[in-house]
Amino acid sequence: MDTPITHSQTLKSKPDATALGFGTNFTDHMFNMDYTADKGWHAPRIEPYAPIEMDPATMFLHYGQGVFEGLKAYRTATGKIQLFRPQENIKRLNRSCKRLCIPAVDENMVLDAMKQLISLEKDWVPDAPETSLYIRPTIIAMDPFLGVRASYTYRLFIILSPVGAYYPEGFNPVKIMVTSDYVRAVRGGVGEAKTPGNYAASLLAGEQAHDAGYTQVLWLDGVEQKYLEEVGAMNIFFVIDNEIITPALNGSILPGITRDSVIELARHWNERVSERKISIDELMEAHDAGKLQEGFGAGTAAVISPVGEIKYRDRVITIADNRVGPVAQKYYQAITDIQYGKADDPKSWIVPVS
Ligand code: PLP
Ligand code: COI
Repeated sequence: MDTPITHSQTLKSKPDATALGFGTNFTDHMFNMDYTADKGWHAPRIEPYAPIEMDPATMFLHYGQGVFEGLKAYRTATGKIQLFRPQENIKRLNRSCKRLCIPAVDENMVLDAMKQLISLEKDWVPDAPETSLYIRPTIIAMDPFLGVRASYTYRLFIILSPVGAYYPEGFNPVKIMVTSDYVRAVRGGVGEAKTPGNYAASLLAGEQAHDAGYTQVLWLDGVEQKYLEEVGAMNIFFVIDNEIITPALNGSILPGITRDSVIELARHWNERVSERKISIDELMEAHDAGKLQEGFGAGTAAVISPVGEIKYRDRVITIADNRVGPVAQKYYQAITDIQYGKADDPKSWIVPVS
């Protein structure tokens, strides 16, 4: 497929690749495509990056019918550009679409569109260590209508943003706070979909965590508020008694692709890894028994992010002396080495762009 391109007449200057934060700079072009009931998904096109004009009654603005994804393009030492498991993101996009009553997209077509956009914007893929080009495919409901139902029209767009570390801490341990006052998602809800409302639901607890000096919230299950679920923008792992443990997917946890990659690598290396229910009490008891060796988050934006401190009610525990532990270090290295083309790709996760 050759997507028609309208070139921007005013190219932006690129930010300093050694001072990139997360999600503040955007490239010159974006991909757009529309859906109507009679034409299906149609009019794929690459256009100058620009605001989207919409009617104030646009359904997305009122009822949040939308989904998005987050993945990255990496520049290798030889200057090539590559993606990490992009098919998994597009499959998850379609699963999110299904949950939000949004018509599915053609997975090959979206991957192709993504590659074409990145090829056009290749000079925006930064080459400083630990930087990448973040890719944000998004679909929003476009009908101007105030009744509650699924929209008949949609816009899909893909924007690109050169990024550095997600957390100001970089790869240093983050402090996370368990909330008992709020829940992010419940089974049967939309927790396993990547949809804006989940993030809106997380903000108040996130602000309270920040005010208390913590970077992120560790969510408990929405039914009993007993079992660990995930962190605001990443899945969670703990190492207890030499076993790597992550909460099992239960319908309210986002099925992270980085999470899956950690599990697959652990199995590939014959390490002890399990996906199971783990309660906050079990975590605290493991800590008290001296068996809690490490904690780390896993996500596209956050990569592998060691957890150095956890607050739960009136208790604060320190993990791995608030330093980067060997397991977090090993998985961070292994995954980023594959992403940046520094190591073999034993699972065929890499998809080249150029
Ligand atoms: N959990 C939440 C709520 C997220 O937003 C993310 C990021 O996408 C993740 C987990 C990690 O998922 P992935 O590894 O696919 O980026
Ligand atoms: C990601 O890791 O891609 C995320 O979506 C996390 C956050 C920026 C929402």
